[in-house]
Amino acid sequence: MKLTPFDTLQDKRLGKIGTPERDAFEAKVNQERFMIRIENIYKKYGQLEVLKSVSLRIEERQVVSITGASGAGKTTLLQIMGSLDKPDAGSVFIGDTDLYRLSAKKLAAFRNQQIGFVFQFHYLLPEFSALENVMMPALIGAEKPGVAKERALELLRFLGLEDRQDHKPSELSGGEQQRVAVARALVNRPQVVFADEPSGNLDTANALALHRLFFELKEKYGQTFIIVTHNHDLAAMSDRCIEMKDGMIVADTRKGRL
Ligand SMILES: Nc1ncnc2c1ncn2[C@@H]1O[C@H](COP(=O)(O)OP(=O)(O)O)[C@@H](O)[C@H]1O
Ligand SMILES: [Mg+2]
Repeated sequence: MKLTPFDTLQDKRLGKIGTPERDAFEAKVNQERFMIRIENIYKKYGQLEVLKSVSLRIEERQVVSITGASGAGKTTLLQIMGSLDKPDAGSVFIGDTDLYRLSAKKLAAFRNQQIGFVFQFHYLLPEFSALENVMMPALIGAEKPGVAKERALELLRFLGLEDRQDHKPSELSGGEQQRVAVARALVNRPQVVFADEPSGNLDTANALALHRLFFELKEKYGQTFIIVTHNHDLAAMSDRCIEMKDGMIVADTRKGRL
């Protein structure tokens, strides 16, 4: 009988929990199984407990949506998962990397290479073209300009923006700007992409197009997408939907397993 990783974790023959051998084994199993693993995250702003012992494991190749009322702690959780904000307690693993054990310099390098972000406002640099904006993270990551350009063009083509490559952000529509921001998030081929209300400023048609794109990108490049959204259609399309309330996860639903 072949044991699944979860079965093997239960197998007492693997030794006592807490020994270095067992820890190494569990780390390996977790690494195979989870793209993101967060354990007992706490975060306070002054007296306000924004995240109260949040734990979550997310497999690779998933589109996961996070929903919940304003103030529930969604952005805070996303920023902590995405290496942008340190928790007061708890740990965050992306693959086998324990984010908040890295030095600031290593964390910045890891973020540049392995994590992509898309925000509600595109934050494209106004004085640069669409192509230059998309190339930027690759150039910051010391990629050769030729390679950076090739990758940026491939993404712009995939996103239907090839003929907009020389346009400045102000010369693009809202939907186009957001797609350029998605291309920029993907140019270093990160394993994980975090998006905070990416369609918050788009009309229905452009929001739907952007949401479809996340699924196409998952199929093509195999990335994991974690998307905070108020959009019910996107939440319903997702592989998994997590609902937050008052700093806690209150529902976790997988597609086809309601
Ligand atoms: N930097 C901060 N300083 C103080 N309070 C904050 C800060 N960031 C968020 N908060 C508070 O934490 C709570 C959760 O915020 P947030 O994570 O942005 O929620 P959501 O994204 O679900 O709307 C809110 O009450 C918010 O006002
Ligand atoms: Mg928010």
